[in-house]
Amino acid sequence: MEVERVQAIASLSAAANDIPAEFVRPEHEQPGFTTYRGPAPEIPVVDLAGEAERGALATRVAAAAREWGIFQVVNHGIPAEVVRELQRVGKAFFELPPEEKEKYASKPGSTEGYGTKLQKDLEGKKAWVDFLFHNIWPPATINYAFWPKIPLEYRKANEEYRKYLGILVNKILIMLSKGLGLEDHVLMQSVGGQNLEYLLKINYYPPCPRPDLALGVVSHTDMSAITILVPNDVPGLQVFKDDQWFDVKHIPNAIIVHIGDQIEILSNGYYKSVLHRTTVNKEKARMSWPVFCSPPPEMEIGPLPQLVSDETPTKYKTKMYKDYAYCKLNKLPQ
Ligand code: SIN
Ligand code: FE2
Repeated sequence: MEVERVQAIASLSAAANDIPAEFVRPEHEQPGFTTYRGPAPEIPVVDLAGEAERGALATRVAAAAREWGIFQVVNHGIPAEVVRELQRVGKAFFELPPEEKEKYASKPGSTEGYGTKLQKDLEGKKAWVDFLFHNIWPPATINYAFWPKIPLEYRKANEEYRKYLGILVNKILIMLSKGLGLEDHVLMQSVGGQNLEYLLKINYYPPCPRPDLALGVVSHTDMSAITILVPNDVPGLQVFKDDQWFDVKHIPNAIIVHIGDQIEILSNGYYKSVLHRTTVNKEKARMSWPVFCSPPPEMEIGPLPQLVSDETPTKYKTKMYKDYAYCKLNKLPQ
């Protein structure tokens, strides 16, 4: 089956200085109408170099996860050159000729691979983005058939990034555990410990002649436990808070942490899974590298018993992660 990639549509659209109707969002979604234009509050920024104040750091992270469900992290411990190399090889992949990228095309029913969302969404519209998905950890989940062979350094760059990422995820989950008054290891253990699965997505949002009308990714919360995202320098991420869509400011070298549905559930609603979406840019390609950290499929996730009481009754069902994912992907009630 011939699939039309947004990257190809974007080249035609640039020439025509317009976009196909199927990419024009309904007004209630259009960034031009729905982006907050006042002095916007900024999502919290956490500086992990504050070693001396471990307790204060955990309090800040927990407050950000509770009030916003998203925060930026600076001095996160992932060397800048490791992040730059991850970005370089990912960008090089998307700049390959179409026939080279198609070698990694995802097959129906599988998450991994190069792709474009085929079906239109509930609004009958499409999103302005192509992507590449592949697992990066643990080893048993990795299928190198979906890792680009060009550029040659692709694999090494991703392996390096993954090593540092594991350390960062552990640190954040410890702080989130502390924020719930739990022992350090509790959240990590509850999402799978050594078996926590890391799925990388690279989003490629080509330049778009009508960024006021289109969306890159439509509003959603992540079904992961936690998502760690590296953006390029083109802003576009927006978060929904107090009934408004706010732009997330680009901070050089910062990493963005999204609280996903599974941490919201485990915390019995104390932490919030953030509603977010992305806009696109008229001149530049936006790219982002989220890694979805999710429990293994058979793992049961529900509110932690330590957090449930007569005053705080359970707000969520307990179910296997794979069943949660199935309902979410098929838009069925949980
Ligand atoms: C996403 O939420 O799927 C993408 C976020 C981003 O590109 O910043
Ligand atoms: Fe997301």
